[in-house]
Amino acid sequence: MTTQDAAVRLFHDLIGHAPDGIWSAPGRVNLIGEHTDYNDGLVLPFAIPHRTYAAVGMRSDDRIRVASTFADAPVEVSLDELRSLFPTGAGAQPAVAEWAAYPLGVAWALQLADATAHGIEHGVDIAIASDVPVGAGLSSSAAIEGATASALNELWAVGLDRTALAGIGRRAENEAVGAPTGIMDQMASMLGEADAALFLDCRSLEAQTVGLGMAEAGLAILVIDTRVSHAHSTGGYRERRASCELGAQIMGVPALRDVSVDDLPRAQELMDDVTFRRVRHIVTENQRVLDTVQTLRESGARAIGDLLVASHVSMRDDFEISVAELDTAVQAALDVGALGARMTGGGFGGAAIALVEQHAAPTVTDAVTAAFTASGFTAPHIFPVTPSAGAARDA
Ligand code: GLA
Repeated sequence: MTTQDAAVRLFHDLIGHAPDGIWSAPGRVNLIGEHTDYNDGLVLPFAIPHRTYAAVGMRSDDRIRVASTFADAPVEVSLDELRSLFPTGAGAQPAVAEWAAYPLGVAWALQLADATAHGIEHGVDIAIASDVPVGAGLSSSAAIEGATASALNELWAVGLDRTALAGIGRRAENEAVGAPTGIMDQMASMLGEADAALFLDCRSLEAQTVGLGMAEAGLAILVIDTRVSHAHSTGGYRERRASCELGAQIMGVPALRDVSVDDLPRAQELMDDVTFRRVRHIVTENQRVLDTVQTLRESGARAIGDLLVASHVSMRDDFEISVAELDTAVQAALDVGALGARMTGGGFGGAAIALVEQHAAPTVTDAVTAAFTASGFTAPHIFPVTPSAGAARDA
């Protein structure tokens, strides 16, 4: 059974009739530009083929009911209750099961953003099924947000565009779920295009697609899911964000986006070593995104390997968000000839990517698996991803 069919079947089992429509949105891989999004900086993600499907139907009353194939029981609230469910302010803990805070948070944020004269009067039934691996750093949460936001925007006739819907997803994540993340994942999920990466300026939200031409070049991107699970609502992610804000404050700028590589010697004089290294990662990473876009345009994907590796080293040594499994994956892939490799996503676990010659994919897969066995790590899950289309209505 396809994931789309699973969502429809769940809807049918729960409600007893067919949904009004099916919407889906993908997970993402970030090619380069890590932790730059909440610093108003630059990112270069692409959407992956793995998607979350939402089968959705309007109700005649004011109830919202969400069910998913990964939870035992549906969660139900009224449109009125939704208003009081999520106390505003980043860091608030959700008052519902965490998975349900994503779709309900989207409904809540859309309700707040709704500027139509008719208002939102009718509830909905939502059945969710997903094949985006959870906790792997592939934005399973942005996929739920994107599918739900696309569905409700249409059924409730709110009329927001894709960029605004990405903002709805981010608001749900920040304020309903309580994870202080940036806008990258939601933008990649809403705006992704086949065989292209999304070059996004996270300050202006201006987005350009950059063709990757992977198949023509005989190249592939492997995802190496380390199976080390992470959560961004706690711990390290929040701390890194605080360090970046401190760094910007010391430099007297609104965000680290406004600090250039030439400013780094002055930054080093002004701040403690840890804050400086966090700042240096962000500043050099923004530059690497620019360099990667230029290299892709001038020379193609085969030429970006060294930039990917430099990004990994910066995350490992300066930003300190890698873990032994990610470092092992990157090194083992490079040792057998991967053109480049780096951890992708928020870090502290999750996945790495490796840019490889198509014909070398089995060799790299075997070498990484063997290196994990030798280190006593849980076997990784390794699979190729092709840059894919963003959110869509499927039926
Ligand atoms: C997570 C967040 C994103 C971004 C990345 C790191 O995926 O959701 O907003 O900050 O980490 O680049």
